[in-house]
Formats: sequence, C-alpha cells, structure tokens
Amino acid sequence: MKRAFALWPYAAVCTAMILGAASSAPAAQDNQLARTPPMGWNDWYQYECKVSDSIMRANADALVNNGMKAAGYVYVNIDDCWQGKRDGKGFIHPNERFPDMKALGDYIHSKGLKFGIYSSPGPKTCGGYEGSYRHEEQDAQTYAKWGVDFLKYDWCSAANVYKPEEMRGAYGKMYDALRRTGRPMVYSLCQYGLEAVWRWGPEVGGNLWRTTDDIGGDYDRVSLFGFQHNGLEKFVGPGHWNDPDILQIGIGKLNNDEGRTQMTLWCLLAAPLLAGNDLTKMSRETLEILTNPEVIAVDQDSLGVEGHRVWQEGPLEVWMKPLGDGSKAVGLFNRSGSGLPISVRFAAIGIGHSAQVRDLWARKDLGLVSEKYTVEVPRHGAALIKVKAENSKL
Ligand code: GLA
Repeated sequence: MKRAFALWPYAAVCTAMILGAASSAPAAQDNQLARTPPMGWNDWYQYECKVSDSIMRANADALVNNGMKAAGYVYVNIDDCWQGKRDGKGFIHPNERFPDMKALGDYIHSKGLKFGIYSSPGPKTCGGYEGSYRHEEQDAQTYAKWGVDFLKYDWCSAANVYKPEEMRGAYGKMYDALRRTGRPMVYSLCQYGLEAVWRWGPEVGGNLWRTTDDIGGDYDRVSLFGFQHNGLEKFVGPGHWNDPDILQIGIGKLNNDEGRTQMTLWCLLAAPLLAGNDLTKMSRETLEILTNPEVIAVDQDSLGVEGHRVWQEGPLEVWMKPLGDGSKAVGLFNRSGSGLPISVRFAAIGIGHSAQVRDLWARKDLGLVSEKYTVEVPRHGAALIKVKAENSKL
C-alpha cells in the first residue's frame, strides 16, 4: 500500500538503535498488563485497508477453531483503516466496513479473546484515516465504551504537528487518557524505533514499542530487523517489550525454514507474537510453526528476559535466552545460502562441561551432551534447544 506519510529513514533508525544501547530503561509506569509478551493476530499484512468487521470475525473464529487461542494467541487487533468521520461533538465513528464496533468487541470477547484497535497521535493515520490529534480523551473514552483491550498508537502524520522532542509527550498524553477511562488497555507504541524509544517507552506507559520500520517482506527483511536487537535486551522485562513487528509466517514470502527462523528468533527476543497471516486458510506447516508449545514457552517464559547473541561467525549466529527454570534457550541460526553445521560451546552460555539438551522444535530429549552441541542447520534456517547443566532435570 502507498503510504500517506513518509517514515523516518531506516538508516537513522539503525543509528538511533546503536546509540540507544548505551543506557538502561527508566522505571515503568506499570499498568500491570502484558506481564509476558502479548500474543494474538493483526490484520494489516493480509488485508491492509480492505479490513472489515466480517474479516475480523472470520479470523477470530479461526483463531479459536484451529488451536491458536489454546496456544496463547488471544488479541484480535484491527490495524489502520477502520475509522470513519467524527460527529458534531468530535467523537469518532467507524466507517461503513465496521457497522457496530461495540458489537464486534462483544463478539470477540464472547470467544474468550481480546479486542485491539489502532490510531495515531497525528491528525491522520499512515493510511490517511482520522487520527486522534486533539481528540485523545474522547477517543480513549470511545475505545473503553467499545470494550477495547489493546491500542496500537502509530506516529504517522504526528511528525507534521509535533517536534521530535515532543514525541514522548504525545505518547504520554494518550496513556493518561487511557488510564482515565479506568479500562485496562495494553499500550503499543509504534514509531519505528525513533528517538531510541526503548529508553523511554516504559515511562510513557508503553507495554511494547516497535523498534524498527515496517517488517513486511522476505527473509532478508525479517533477519535484518530481528538480528539487530542485540544490546536492546536490557530495556525489556515483564510489562514492557521490544516489538520487532508482526510475524510474517504464512503470508507467502517465507519458506518453512525461514518461518521457523522468525519464530525462533522472536521467541528468543521475548517479542510480542502477533500472527499476520490469513487464519482462515493456512497450511498445516504454518500452523505447526505458529503453535509449537515448547517454542512459545521460550517467548512466554516468566523471567521475562530478552535473549542476546553469544557467538557469531559471519552469517552463523548463536543466541541465548535465560529461562525461569534455570535452563537456557539457545538458537543456532544459519543466515548463509547453504546448509552448514553450527555448534554452541556450553562455556559460551555459562554452563560447565556437560548439559542435558532438548530439541524444542522436535520436542525431543537429546540426552547428556559434553562440551558442545553441533547441529546441521539448513540455509536461512534455525535450530532451537533448551540446555540445562548436567544432573538438573529439564
Ligand atoms: C505504519 C505501521 C504499520 C501499519 C501501517 C498502517 O506503517 O508501521 O505497522 O500499522 O502504518 O497504515
């Protein structure tokens, strides 16, 4: 889709990310939500501005029927393009594709799911629809009335009305408005990683904040965005997460090895898991990649620590995430063009001579392994193991 507003140049985002790694996060204004990274579905990559009430309902139904809800995916989030006009008093109404937002929220809730919506601090959204500028209080009240549980707040045209140094204030303003409604709503900041958002996202109530520009695309895009998170792990914890954007699995540009790579990396990053594919028709492999319980458990681990890179040799990388049970999740990634063996030395992840190893994708114990674990990883693929020091049970 053609953007109505230009985004911050990608190179500047990268620079901000590098600078941002220098200090640690401020204390969060904690709203007690999103204690583990939010999981759900967002329509944007599949439907863009064609999204409608019936599309949202059909995907909510699928989420329940295909087992994704049981696997933890509960947010059903409308992205851009639902907005209609404001009435004489300034209250927002949905457009003709959404006849009754309260009824849609009720329907989503009746399935045991949660309801997400989208707006912008600017006068217009990125798709050119009505934003919340100068209507923050009214919009927050409207969302509460509709039963909204999650707001993605997307910078877009706010760049035309606010200076960069006013960005925090603009996000804080909506957070205050949300709080005043008395309805708990997960607050998702979307400003593409500008101004090193990880440093101040929690301060303005952010439960998650996008760290990058829009991910939509192939393996190169997914890996470029995902692997650049090294160093940002110190800004994350229960209630506040880095958001490298929506899962591209099953949308069409990733093969299954590449899909497993995105899932593996996102889980090691403790990233929000928002599926972006058409849930009403997907392959068995896509569903398996999205719902492997042992892989999801890495993402949802109670410790809430984001993983980081522990080893690299050109396009081969090993990442590690400490888990609440004292074990470590380890991802072995092959970003090269052909299959290659990759090893992790246990010393590199703080484990002594031997360790119990479990293959999380295969859900299989591999037994006691000495010194290092080696696995053949396909081109653009990933392996994910759980490693625990000898004698402790996995
Ligand atoms: C921006 C956001 C995307 C999506 C679109 C909608 O580009 O980064 O995630 O919300 O706007 O217009």
